[in-house]
Amino acid sequence: MIERDVLERLEARVLAVLDGDPIDDLDVVGYGEISTVLRVEGTNGPVVAKRLPQMSRAQFVAYSETLADYLDDLRVRGVRPVDSIVHAVGEDPVVPYCIQPLQPLLLVDELDRADDAVIEHRVEQLVDTIVGAVDDWVGLDGQISNWAVDNGDLLYIDVTTPLLRDASGSERLDVGLFIASLPWALRGAVDRFLLTEILSHYYDPRAVLLDLAGNLHKERLTGIIPPLLEAANRVVSPAITQAEAAKYYRSDAWLWEFLLRVRRADRAWQCKVRHRRYPFLLPGRIER
Ligand SMILES: Nc1ncnc2c1ncn2[C@@H]1O[C@H](COP(=O)(O)OP(=O)(O)OP(=O)(O)O)[C@@H](O)[C@H]1O
Ligand SMILES: [Mg+2]
Repeated sequence: MIERDVLERLEARVLAVLDGDPIDDLDVVGYGEISTVLRVEGTNGPVVAKRLPQMSRAQFVAYSETLADYLDDLRVRGVRPVDSIVHAVGEDPVVPYCIQPLQPLLLVDELDRADDAVIEHRVEQLVDTIVGAVDDWVGLDGQISNWAVDNGDLLYIDVTTPLLRDASGSERLDVGLFIASLPWALRGAVDRFLLTEILSHYYDPRAVLLDLAGNLHKERLTGIIPPLLEAANRVVSPAITQAEAAKYYRSDAWLWEFLLRVRRADRAWQCKVRHRRYPFLLPGRIER
């Protein structure tokens, strides 16, 4: 999908931006809560590149295996993940990039102008897909921004955090990698135990659907909440109410905004006081 030297040049540009060059030097297609998604020219058309936290070569090998197993398990369970491969830039440590074809139609954009029949069909698909895939071993983040539409099918795009547990119920993902990307002030508070607890929501179909419903407030798609809850409440209990979704969203939005502020403060500290490079691209202002 992409030539090695294209990726190396991209990483060099990202480092220059982290060192103060204008962000316009990069073609940003989307900001998630954690990562910044960049557009690049691939060998067969445009692709997106998702930059992951720096890790050792050994951690990268383990991460790649976990991601491959996660994609397989999703497929077995009827979820279509978008084609995704990971490449490492550097020798050891490496900066991994997850590469996917750029999806021309995202579900958020389709739903923004959809009529009732399309909305009804998509919410049924979402509920069926989530309930059919999620259990104690395989999780997913069902938020509306994590899906694209391809030939009438839903494609799952947010695969870079493989939500997969082994037979003993432990996360396959090295959660320490993600803790390392947090500002030091939070690292003490967010230990493995808390992170495992946070991740556990993604392994519970009702919690995934509640999060999806609540997050429609952020996407300004509140009209979709009633049909979504109608479809969801046919299969989960206790039923999810609109009030529960709104309340959930208020606390969730607060938490993410708080985390973003702490990361910005950490960036200012690292750059201005310590004169060190802050290693992540952070989103600008997010409307919540
Ligand atoms: N393959 C793709 N094609 C087009 N747009 C994409 C693609 N992948 C991601 N995006 C855009 O970038 C946004 C963020 O991507 P993604 O969901 O993978 O990251 P994320 O939310 O930061 O993940 P996490 O928070 O779990 O690390 C998406 O919501 C979407 O708008
Ligand atoms: Mg996402």
